[in-house]
Amino acid sequence: MSKQRLDKLIASQGAYSRSEVKALVKARRVLVNGSAVSDSGFKADPDTDEIVVDGKKFGYSEFVYIMLNKPKGVVSASNSPKDKTVIDLLPDDMRRSGLFPAGRLDKDTTGFVLITDDGDFAHEILSPKNHVEKTYIAVLDRPVSKEKQAEFEKGVVLADGYECLPAKIRELSDDGLTVEIKLKEGKYHQIKRMAAACDSHVNELERVAMGALELDRSLEQGECRYLSPEELALIKLEK
Ligand code: URA
Repeated sequence: MSKQRLDKLIASQGAYSRSEVKALVKARRVLVNGSAVSDSGFKADPDTDEIVVDGKKFGYSEFVYIMLNKPKGVVSASNSPKDKTVIDLLPDDMRRSGLFPAGRLDKDTTGFVLITDDGDFAHEILSPKNHVEKTYIAVLDRPVSKEKQAEFEKGVVLADGYECLPAKIRELSDDGLTVEIKLKEGKYHQIKRMAAACDSHVNELERVAMGALELDRSLEQGECRYLSPEELALIKLEK
């Protein structure tokens, strides 16, 4: 990376605004290679210069990838005039500009939402042609018949005639009401519409994995954490 103004560089990571960085510089609390800087326009390169902000080593990342366990009642959008969004759930020190949810869950769906500012990565994992599987657990009001289950492998035809890509369904409970569903696409209300096409109805829906990366069950609903590069790579693998 090339050299950048310190105020812009530090503010780009989200924990401090540009004016907060200016105030920290004024208070001599920003060090570059061991020396306090006096000008927030001073240029530094995070790859080669050691930057310390308010006693903490400054780590720069071009993009971030966050796993959120979405609760009900929150919308998968970057902003909304009336609803709380998944971005609103991020703690202050994880916020930065350009974050968005990579793929949407319905307001009443819970589980794994990936939040990032890397548009190319989001496109890659959402495009059906890249075959990244998303795994859901659905609680239905009526079991899906064996014949209808077989249709999942071929492609369920929705009420409007749309033919879904091949998907997988597996019963998780003896009564057939709790099922695991794996999809490689993400059409609007897809699982609810697939269930309707199978004469059933979704009462509860949770996304539990993206690719081979499972939702971290130590995250309570509403909590989030950064993903490591190894975890990120799992998203592109089959489970
Ligand atoms: N399918 C749905 O119907 N809703 C979701 O939130 C995700 C998949």
